[in-house]
Amino acid sequence: MNILLATSELHPYSKSGGLADMVAALARTLALTGNEARVVTPLYRGIQAQFPEMRREDWWFDLPLGSKRVQAELYSLRPEKNLTIYFIKQPEFFDRGGYYMENNVGYPDNGDRFIFFSKCVTHLARYLPWRPDVIHVHDWQTGLVPAMVLNQRAHEGWGSPPPVCLTIHNLAYQGVFPPATYALTNLPPEYFTIETSEYFGHLNCLKSGIALAHCLTAVSPRYAREILTEEYGCGLDGLLRKRQNRLFGILNGVDYQEWNPTTDPYLPAPYSLARLAGKKTNKSELQKDMGLTVTGAPLFGTITRLAEQKGMDIQLAALEEMLSADMQFVLLGSGSPAYEHGYHELARRFPAKVAVRFGYNERLAHRIEAACDFYLMPSRYEPSGLNQMYSLRYGTIPIVRATGGLDDSITDFTENKTRANGIKFSEYSARALARAIRKALALYQEPGLVLQCRRNGMKADFSWERTVGEYLRVYDVAVASGLPA
Ligand code: ADP
Ligand code: GLC
Repeated sequence: MNILLATSELHPYSKSGGLADMVAALARTLALTGNEARVVTPLYRGIQAQFPEMRREDWWFDLPLGSKRVQAELYSLRPEKNLTIYFIKQPEFFDRGGYYMENNVGYPDNGDRFIFFSKCVTHLARYLPWRPDVIHVHDWQTGLVPAMVLNQRAHEGWGSPPPVCLTIHNLAYQGVFPPATYALTNLPPEYFTIETSEYFGHLNCLKSGIALAHCLTAVSPRYAREILTEEYGCGLDGLLRKRQNRLFGILNGVDYQEWNPTTDPYLPAPYSLARLAGKKTNKSELQKDMGLTVTGAPLFGTITRLAEQKGMDIQLAALEEMLSADMQFVLLGSGSPAYEHGYHELARRFPAKVAVRFGYNERLAHRIEAACDFYLMPSRYEPSGLNQMYSLRYGTIPIVRATGGLDDSITDFTENKTRANGIKFSEYSARALARAIRKALALYQEPGLVLQCRRNGMKADFSWERTVGEYLRVYDVAVASGLPA
């Protein structure tokens, strides 16, 4: 199959979270399994210098954006057989200090930037000499593509466009803009109605995609069920319930080429299930490098966006309660200044036990996964989550709240004693998380059980090779099903 994917971030060119990992790994696996995948993404600052082998395509975008016209160039890379990455070069929009924001303030023209990006995607889908069988878009930044495709079919002579699938990675981010922004789409009024992109008088890019895509996926089965409820539906549960028969939950996979403790180039000491001793070396090296006491006490870690979603409020409070015990904690995060301050204070008060680093650091993320005994992920909600699955492969026992993809990937001892691969709690509270940490401290005293839990995790197969077939089936449904129902 020919699949054109579109995403606002793509590993290793740009990444602020799991979206970048997911699309990169899905596209690569599609290519490896005999399909042809092409991915469209913005050319952000620094990418071209880092990948000088990219070449300029003989292609020129000159597209309306409201009353203006905006030009862009197209660059491409072919990192692997059957895989092409297209970069949209529009320096005014994308050559900036951040992807979506700077100093925690969103760019005021994010509507302009991603409406334009969605137009480029639609334009490529229509005019590339290579014909996609399916267009697969991701999150709000490309949420308007289905409307653009349908409009070109209805009014602009696009005979038989391919179907569009939309993956929801996080329903909380919808791309909502003042009504005047709609003019930038150059779409007729019929796509700005209560059934389509209009949301309390505003333009809602994700809503438009949910209403008009041929098929929808959410990044885990449990999240696909959760978003049908008022509690997790972020105001769109009614519409999602309407489209339920076209909504599929597919748990993200892991790219085991990137996340493999045996071959990981970032680790001081590679290791495997058969040679677990290396894991201890990674732990002591990290303790040294982060200024912690080198000790056998259990080491807990978190690598995360410092956002409300990730349960940072209950984590701070639970650590406060638990740090009198014999344990250590490391954090790598970026995001909310208030949470940075909270963790900074914790590290100041417990210098031998707590170390924190802020900012984005790929190497440190891998080293923390390898060094820790336990990984904390107490998310308020978690569409899929990747770090708990990376932890499993690194023999680092995840402690998670039973929500979304965390619930789908982690089995607690109380659910199944022999298959347990982590510790799970339900109630969203510091007290419940502290109880889970206490369970971890008790588990740590039983090396046999720790080993069994690690073994279950390290042997688990969350590979994309297993998952890719589910996406291909959704693409088949989209192709077979005609217009959105
Ligand atoms: P989300 O996409 O909601 O942030 P995921 O668990 O799906 O959560 O993916 C997060 C990804 O981003 C993981 O690959 C994680 O290692 C990475 N990550 C998050 N914060 C940082 C950071 N500060 N430095 C390096 N990698 C990070
Ligand atoms: C979102 C979700 C996360 C998911 C990622 C990739 O950022 O918050 O749970 O793993 O997308 O799908």
